Amino acid sequence: MRRGEVDSTTLLNALLTFTQAAQTALLQALHALGLTGDVHGQPAWPFAWRVAAETLLIDRGLTRHLALFLAAAVLALLLIALGALWRRARWPLWLAAVVLLLIAPKPSPSIVLTDAVPTSFHRSPSHFDATSIDRGLALYAQHCASCHGTDGRGEGLAAASLAVWPPTLSAGLLWKRAEGELLWRVLHGMNARDGTQTMPGFAGRLSEADAWAVLDGMKALSAGESARLEASWPWPVRAPGIDVRCDGGPPRALSEWRGQRVRIVTEGVVAGVNVVREVRGEARVKAENESFSSWREDPRVVTIVLRPNHAASASGCEAASPAAWRAFASVAGLEAQSLTGTQFIVDRDGWLRALGTAGQADWSEDNLICRSDESASRLTSSKPEADGLGALIARMDADPVQATQLGLPHSPAQTRSP
Ligand code: HEC
Repeated sequence: MRRGEVDSTTLLNALLTFTQAAQTALLQALHALGLTGDVHGQPAWPFAWRVAAETLLIDRGLTRHLALFLAAAVLALLLIALGALWRRARWPLWLAAVVLLLIAPKPSPSIVLTDAVPTSFHRSPSHFDATSIDRGLALYAQHCASCHGTDGRGEGLAAASLAVWPPTLSAGLLWKRAEGELLWRVLHGMNARDGTQTMPGFAGRLSEADAWAVLDGMKALSAGESARLEASWPWPVRAPGIDVRCDGGPPRALSEWRGQRVRIVTEGVVAGVNVVREVRGEARVKAENESFSSWREDPRVVTIVLRPNHAASASGCEAASPAAWRAFASVAGLEAQSLTGTQFIVDRDGWLRALGTAGQADWSEDNLICRSDESASRLTSSKPEADGLGALIARMDADPVQATQLGLPHSPAQTRSP
């Protein structure tokens, strides 16, 4: 990627953030004034349209247009405010504001606006929590897999008899849509242009929390399928939210480790599939088929051990959420009984970045399966790293996840150390 393109990605990102924040602020103001009520637990967007930040992604020319228009609008507002304060120059300033607005390039509303629903700006309250993912996967199997397929590719048993094929989840669909609009579609269904229903609504069968959970489950499923089939997480996935206990202390949320790199090590085997050999007097439970057998505490990462039965041991940090094992198995695209030996690296911002497979001897850069397509040579320094984990970390740190809202792809940040 050349310099100019990096800059335009940064501009785009700023514009996306701005348009979303401005609309959210408008919604909150309307709600505070009592001009709009609540729907599905959060303030309802009262308009039938919204600014379609996502079309900016498709049309970069439009982005520049909109940026210029916004700059002109902000300047005009400043002139109007200045005119209100400075009486003597009031009319010239206000005239200048009007002229500025008239000559500013105005993007066509039909491109900038899109249809909205009352939940367009709703935010998921579940934070991709392991419990929510686990519940969502069960609900998905129960209510959705018949059409959407157990793998989410839209080829469930009932799909062929539908007028419209369900979409595949493998193309980043869940990342490209506003999450509030996905919620609306799950609860209220979708219709074809002629009004016939294409996707049934689940408002009577799923609560709001269930609907958010099923979206978490679908995201985990989609991430897991990409990991399984393509060894990649093309759309950045958060580490599932879990509770962690350190040295027998009280449970703390994994998010408290933001700012540090975290390694999740899966140890032990699912009861009934293999026998866990517990070595008395030793801090760690060793499983017969444990791999990365030489893993040790490492100062470059905080190590958290994940066990299928979340049995706590006295030393070190351990996952304490009952759903953690299944949630991590799902994002890795593995059956629960096959997760043992898998490791995950979570970056300082809480994104799942690297997946180490059972049986692999050491880390390498290839384990970084959530990365931009920036060439490795641009991102890593010429200084050779001491080991595989070092090389992986250097590459990961040089290539942070910049933004993922409304489908903005993972792109390298503009500023990075030389
Ligand atoms: C009767 C079959 C059927 C069932 C059951 C079903 N869906 Fe769908 N779903 C569809 C079809 C068909 C579409 C595409 C509709 C369209 O594009 O008009 C769709 C589309 C979607 C979309 C894409 C929405 C978008 O923004 O494009 C999501 C998300 C979704 N379904 C989630 C679910 C969830 C979650 C469940 C279970 C709670 C579920 N579906 C159950 C048939 C089904």
